[in-house]
Amino acid sequence: MLGPGCALRSSCLPLLCACTLLLLPPVAPVSLPTPKPQERAKLLLVSFDGFRWDYLDRVPTPNFHALMKEGVQVEQVENIYITKTFPNHHSLVTGLYAETHGIVANEMYDPSLNLSFSMETDSMYDSRWWDQAVPLWVTVQKAGGRSGAAMWPGSDVKIRGAYPDRYLPYNASVSFETRVQRVIEWFAAPRDEAVDFAVLYWEEPDESGHLLGPESPLMDEVIADIDEKLGFLRNELRKAGLYEEVNLIVTSDHGMMQLSTEKIIELDEYVGRDLYTWIDKSPVVGIIPNEGKLDDVYNKLKDANPYMAVYKKEDIPAHYHYQHNIRIMPVLLEAQEGWTIVQNRTAPFMLGNHGYNNSLRSMHPVFVARGPAFRQDFVQPSMQSVDLYPLMCHILSIRPAPNNGSLMRVKALLSQEPCPPAPSVPPRIPQYSYAPVIGSMISIVMVVGFLIFYIREVTVKQLPTLPRGSREMSQPLLQEDMNLHFLETHRGFVSVRHI
Ligand SMILES: *[C@@H]1O[C@H](CO)[C@@H](O)[C@H](O)[C@H]1NC(C)=O
Ligand SMILES: *[C@@H]1O[C@H](CO)[C@@H](O)[C@H](O)[C@H]1NC(C)=O
Ligand SMILES: *[C@@H]1O[C@H](CO)[C@@H](O)[C@H](O)[C@H]1NC(C)=O
Ligand SMILES: *[C@@H]1O[C@H](CO)[C@@H](O)[C@H](O)[C@H]1NC(C)=O
Ligand SMILES: *[C@@H]1O[C@H](CO)[C@@H](O)[C@H](O)[C@H]1NC(C)=O
Ligand SMILES: [Zn+2]
Repeated sequence: MLGPGCALRSSCLPLLCACTLLLLPPVAPVSLPTPKPQERAKLLLVSFDGFRWDYLDRVPTPNFHALMKEGVQVEQVENIYITKTFPNHHSLVTGLYAETHGIVANEMYDPSLNLSFSMETDSMYDSRWWDQAVPLWVTVQKAGGRSGAAMWPGSDVKIRGAYPDRYLPYNASVSFETRVQRVIEWFAAPRDEAVDFAVLYWEEPDESGHLLGPESPLMDEVIADIDEKLGFLRNELRKAGLYEEVNLIVTSDHGMMQLSTEKIIELDEYVGRDLYTWIDKSPVVGIIPNEGKLDDVYNKLKDANPYMAVYKKEDIPAHYHYQHNIRIMPVLLEAQEGWTIVQNRTAPFMLGNHGYNNSLRSMHPVFVARGPAFRQDFVQPSMQSVDLYPLMCHILSIRPAPNNGSLMRVKALLSQEPCPPAPSVPPRIPQYSYAPVIGSMISIVMVVGFLIFYIREVTVKQLPTLPRGSREMSQPLLQEDMNLHFLETHRGFVSVRHI
């Protein structure tokens, strides 16, 4: 069930009511807030693939800057390892590291399925690759809401038995403008058909970044064009009357690093191709040594090149959270920033790439957001990209699935402070919240309880001759007196004291 404020927020009310009422005179009339039908929050998540965080200030980007002024910006978003497209897009919508959501690379092999995955083939439509985690669009639908998706990686795959309610099958030839128009239609549909949550993906500036290299002056134009595309989106939202209502998050999966033909690592120089199978692409290459050749291959590569780190799976640094999955290969080769791993130099070469250490600033994506859920003109220095998932769940009032993010780390971005986490809250909040009523009832019980205690104290003190142990005798007396005192309290405590 969707609505403003989270299940957590409404669970705060009883406490708040109880505390407030205890401060009031005990006889003050209790005013119950009237439950009102909940407005569903709307959220649009946009990814411009490969939009590095600092592209914002490289050329004038008036639309990005308008969003920052109207909303929030996070300067350094640490994304997840490996800093590739599919793993990171899936982390944005699951809040999980790649080792847990299972989309560990753009090219994968799963030994238990004996299947290969490539984002460039139909292999990616096999649901078995995606069933290790539940993306937010599915969770929204299972909670009674509606989702839409325009070309987001994995959003046209059946995951846990569901597609988004509205989605576009992946087709790189469909223009950005067409994608935007579809998404706007989904949000603007009649109330009982409109989507609450949508994801929108665009391939640039990643493609140009690979081709030209991020340092190319030609990238300026590409970045300016992305800003114009954001301007188109803002305008379409305005035209549909959705601009003030829809929470808009604009981010990316990763940054981009300049490469050089001087920085090439050729594996053929160190180890024969007949000893291993190459699975993923540079700069983080998973390989499977042939049966019985693990140590041989590892030893040949381990100190082969100062610009390449070589890990056995069990030695992959813990801070990568990239180890505990059958799809992570027995040996991982990692190039240093700016370096490229190939077998030999006939391999196609790119001028820009990503995938490196996720702590590197060159790998970090842009992050701006605006809308009713967000503060205005606010900059936060850093966040983890896995924190976006609990943030989005909070905005949509969805109970998050277990994840690696933290709402507390990003709560400063919100216009309203979220409640502290309360793990025992029920998964769904009712259409009408009974929390205030229950809260008030608890407080009435507490007030009455307090009065009984107080009167009992007073009465006992005034009956010094009553035998303490004799309940049979004291009970009726107390009850009589209590009624008397209870009436007296209606005139205030002073009169009680004077009895
Ligand atoms: C894995 O699949 C390939 C065909 O794609 C087949 O040749 C091979 O025998 C299979 N391996 C195992 C262990 O089943
Ligand atoms: C992809 O989109 C283009 C442009 O809209 C269209 O011409 C083409 O038929 C589409 N391809 C598929 C496979 O639907
Ligand atoms: C480089 O690799 C390609 C296959 O990727 C192969 O055809 C070619 O012979 C290799 N060149 C050298 C010099 O080893
Ligand atoms: C990744 O980069 C961070 C920051 O530079 C560094 O502390 C860490 O050691 C790097 N990890 C590896 C495995 O190189
Ligand atoms: C990430 O979250 C999942 C789900 O709660 C959990 O199983 C996993 O251990 C977490 N990973 C880390 C590194 O904490
Ligand atoms: Zn890319």
